[in-house]
Amino acid sequence: MLTAGILTISDKGSRGEREDESGKAIKKLLALLGARLVKYDIVPDEREIISQKLIQWADEEDIDLIITTGGTGLSPRDVTPEATLAVVERIVPGLAETMRAESLKKTPMAMLSRGVAGIRRGSLIINLPGSPKAVQECLEVVLPALPHAMEVLKGEAVECGRELEEG
Ligand code: MTE
Repeated sequence: MLTAGILTISDKGSRGEREDESGKAIKKLLALLGARLVKYDIVPDEREIISQKLIQWADEEDIDLIITTGGTGLSPRDVTPEATLAVVERIVPGLAETMRAESLKKTPMAMLSRGVAGIRRGSLIINLPGSPKAVQECLEVVLPALPHAMEVLKGEAVECGRELEEG
């Protein structure tokens, strides 16, 4: 079974000043994948703290899929993409590109998320923007590709390109 971690990145959330609606939205969507949520945390917008958490979850906890939410924008405190790029070994540009492209059909603000996706060891890390609405809009776009992505990442895929064709 796929294991998942949700990392919410928010200064206010980490101080307990804001309910984490985005984390809850991710949890619901991950249930559609049949993923088992094994880690959940809220951290402030601090590059080193975010990177360390991603390293710990990927290397020590062996989490298959790590979804982050928040800190992807243009504010000086938004450092999630940099913290992620500092720890991934390979980037997966198509995930972030597709989320932005599809989201742009709903809001021009979509171009303001700098989120990235990448691989560290056997973990796929995906940055989502911070609002629950954005989480829903972005995650539902990539969700159909994730089971196969994880199979390939784990070396379990028999053949590429058959999954969606065969339904
Ligand atoms: N993407 C989608 N699909 N829907 C949205 O409402 N909001 C945007 C953008 N991406 C949005 C979106 C806005 S307003 C911002 S500021 C950026 O994500 C960055 O958000 P973050 O800093 O909370 O990560």
